[in-house]
Amino acid sequence: MKILVLVLSLVSIGFADDEINSRYFPKGFKFGVANAAPQIEGGWNEDGKTESIWDYYAHTYPEKIVDRSTPDIACDSYHKYKEDVAMVKAMGVDYYRLSIAWTRILPTGYPDKVNQAGVQYYKNLFAELKAANVEPMVTLYHWDLPQSLEEQLGGWLNETVSDLFAEYARLCFELFKDDVKMWITINEPKQVCSAGYGAGYYAPGVVSSGIGEYICAKNVIMAHAKAYHIYDDEFRATNQGRIAMVVDSLWFEPGSDSAEDQEASERVLQFGIGLYANPMFIGNWPQVVIDRVAQRSELEGFSTSRLPAFTDEEIAYVKGTCDYLALNHYATNMVNATADAPIGNPSNGNDISVLTWKKPEWPVGAGDWFGVVPWGLRHLLVWLKKTYGDVEIIITENGLSDTTGIMEDDHRISYYQGYLSACLDAIYEDGVNLSTYTAWSIIDDWEWTGGYTAFLGMYYVNFTDPERTRIPRKSASWFTNMVATRCLVDTCTE
Ligand code: BGC
Repeated sequence: MKILVLVLSLVSIGFADDEINSRYFPKGFKFGVANAAPQIEGGWNEDGKTESIWDYYAHTYPEKIVDRSTPDIACDSYHKYKEDVAMVKAMGVDYYRLSIAWTRILPTGYPDKVNQAGVQYYKNLFAELKAANVEPMVTLYHWDLPQSLEEQLGGWLNETVSDLFAEYARLCFELFKDDVKMWITINEPKQVCSAGYGAGYYAPGVVSSGIGEYICAKNVIMAHAKAYHIYDDEFRATNQGRIAMVVDSLWFEPGSDSAEDQEASERVLQFGIGLYANPMFIGNWPQVVIDRVAQRSELEGFSTSRLPAFTDEEIAYVKGTCDYLALNHYATNMVNATADAPIGNPSNGNDISVLTWKKPEWPVGAGDWFGVVPWGLRHLLVWLKKTYGDVEIIITENGLSDTTGIMEDDHRISYYQGYLSACLDAIYEDGVNLSTYTAWSIIDDWEWTGGYTAFLGMYYVNFTDPERTRIPRKSASWFTNMVATRCLVDTCTE
């Protein structure tokens, strides 16, 4: 019943307040759809693939996954990739964002033995995409660290893992140099580190808030930078592609005009997306993060800041390592300042000290944090432009997750229409250099700890049917039409 009410309210509220922009998308603007290996491939131990941290997490701690499910089969894309490509082609998009599973290419995690069957799988997938005239956009790391590296080395808490990632990246650049030109190193380092090695609710489940997550952050940034330099030095000239790391953020709208709430918004952004984007676009951690963590660390009795420092050489090495800014964005929260948390146990939340909340009238997606607010994307894009300059922005994920999976998903259409309209506002009204938009997701998937209980697909998959038949939802035809017309309403103007 609750679910029904939720859906009805999503449908009826729609986005009546936000006028939909009636300009065409600019010429050359690109559209794509996305998913990632650990969420759709299945075949978790087939043809030489080994366990990733997410396979292990779901196998070992079923209670951590809402429906106790595993990604063992998922959408079975390991066998049904041709159907996936046909779906993507039918949508008329320019590219398909997918990811490579490290454990399929290098089963030990180390660059000792290349698994030819794994390589062949991706070769086949790229050939299929080429025949369909769809470009691949390839993420090298979508959270699926080889479990071996977690067990033997402590995963992203060990800087050696950043060298191993760089080796794996070099191998992929070499193996797929004729197939891929749009490269992404790492997806959402904030989730990798804060959820994986901070709060600990994502694999590998290490609880080390305010300590482990900052060590992870530095190692992940260095991993990206190493891969970037390898690409730049050894492959760019011949491959002629582009490469970046994907950062993610909610928009945090200040709860009032007060200086404190404005600062709270800035602070929570800098501790989130800024932690990763600042080193790459400006150099070093954001100053507010350096200052606050140092100050609190000292009061807590630490002899040095819990935030590991970058050396001057490292700052120079990391700065400028993105060919564009790749952004994942889903939702908005309000934010208010709170008094600084009392000194006690270190934690990222205490370092930030803000209060986040959602307006009751906002439609919501699956998950507490999911406030559906299209103008939030526009505000975030403007903030990125203000903070990092006139950098080209590519949206690498945006979409609505719900808990019903209904086929007549008008609420998802409203979501895309509203968020794409916010993109047009940002382009035409605010001069944001936004070139590309990726919808997440083409297909229902294994939603990490959400298992098979949260749905984002424009194609439905019945996860109890051995055939894993893909069936388009209403949003699939809306999106296809939008891509063809490059327009969000019945009639558009240039
Ligand atoms: C992740 C995806 C995930 C999506 C929706 C993003 O943070 O990159 O893997 O499916 O959120 O939950």
